[in-house]
Amino acid sequence: MKKLGRLFENNRRWAEGVRAQDAEFFAKLSRQQAPDYLWIGCADSRVPATEICGLRPGEMFVHRNVANLVVHSDFNCLSVLQYAVEVLQVEHVIVCGHYGCGGVRAAMESKPHGLIDNWLRHIKDVYDWHREELDAIADPDARADRLCELNVQSQILNLGATTIVQDAWRRGQPLTIHGWIYGLGDGQLKDLDLCISDDEALPAVYRMRSSSGV
Ligand code: CO
Repeated sequence: MKKLGRLFENNRRWAEGVRAQDAEFFAKLSRQQAPDYLWIGCADSRVPATEICGLRPGEMFVHRNVANLVVHSDFNCLSVLQYAVEVLQVEHVIVCGHYGCGGVRAAMESKPHGLIDNWLRHIKDVYDWHREELDAIADPDARADRLCELNVQSQILNLGATTIVQDAWRRGQPLTIHGWIYGLGDGQLKDLDLCISDDEALPAVYRMRSSSGV
């Protein structure tokens, strides 16, 4: 008996449907991928990156983790970023958070959750940096949603400070980082207007402009 038969049946029908529209689709895609975008988003099952952007296989490189974090010692995320920027030469990196993020909410709690608290700690730091603004928001849902936005903002700066993005900008490679947020309740993407295309927006200590160290 085939395990999870429904998924295999779905897959067979999906592949047939794609081939019916373009008989060469998979043959062409198997030879190369040339996506324009890297998506860094939450692992939440309700935020399927390519689907909500109306893109097809091959059009978006995707990395997802709990609460869409870019942590400078996370070799998983950094490896995806390096491959996307240096090999695939994507021109846009999108960090997309979402309202109602369980990771962000868990980070706001005082109770322990086990191992994941080490990961959520990065969000607790974001809370602490913006404590005055957040503590002033009385409604807990609104406060959590604002932290979701501030978390995206923080990840934009983390991305800009990576050696990979700094190297690309120093080479003159066009690379823009975008901060978006997605609404689970209405399916809408919102641009948080946090775009950066060079290191001007970064605090000076994070800029690495010359290989001589000057
Ligand atoms: Co989430």
